[in-house]
Amino acid sequence: MKLTLKIWRQKNKNAHGEMKTYQVDHISDDMSFLEMIDVLNEELVEKNDDPVAFDHDCREGICGMCSMVINGQPHGPGKGITTCQLHMREFNDGDTIYIEPFRADAFPIIKDLVVDRSAFDRIQQAGGFISVNTSGNTIDANAIPVPKENADTAFDSATCIGCGACVAACKNSSAILFVSAKVSQFALLPQGELERKERALKMVEQMDKEGFGSCTNIGDCAAECPKEISLENIARLNREYISATIKSK
Ligand code: SF4
Ligand code: FES
Repeated sequence: MKLTLKIWRQKNKNAHGEMKTYQVDHISDDMSFLEMIDVLNEELVEKNDDPVAFDHDCREGICGMCSMVINGQPHGPGKGITTCQLHMREFNDGDTIYIEPFRADAFPIIKDLVVDRSAFDRIQQAGGFISVNTSGNTIDANAIPVPKENADTAFDSATCIGCGACVAACKNSSAILFVSAKVSQFALLPQGELERKERALKMVEQMDKEGFGSCTNIGDCAAECPKEISLENIARLNREYISATIKSK
């Protein structure tokens, strides 16, 4: 198939960016979206033009790197998939596709489609961990029983890959779905009990410091999340945060 691509090009954080138009031909239905950009980039390199910078690593929906907005949707059309899992069969011959970076003040553009999502790392470092005593013998994995329902819900929360699509989808650029998934992952398990109070307070504090917006209960975050992280996590984070605030007084 033959496609027209309108891609955001921006040399660096401070440069003026603009949409540029490219044509690609002989794109197979079976190619992934990133492979389609690879085809364009090979052509650009052959012409001594600057290839389009975009983030990727695993290319199988695990690492959360492939952040871009396709035709106005973070990770493009299709539910529960990342950009690297999107295939060209979702598009038609002759289509025009708009490709932009995730847009949020807390995710400054580094180049073209690459944004700096280190704000997420700093939120995670503020409280997204558990303390384990590693001296002595290794504790048996089954020594701390976890109710099956809690284990399953914690696992669902832990599937958040930190991609940032929730922030890009939100009109307020809120990171609450990401933070709530990371807090829930530990709040539901006995292993997360030790830092439970500090975790909710510190991760929310860091989220606010990074300049993410507030949640106004629109729900676009969950609708666009490639891992279908549920809004229930946000309700749980609110409970965790309120309870931690009361206990710290
Ligand atoms: S909650 Fe979903 S959209 Fe947000 S960072 Fe996690 S996986 Fe990505
Ligand atoms: S490249 Fe890893 S999730 Fe897309």
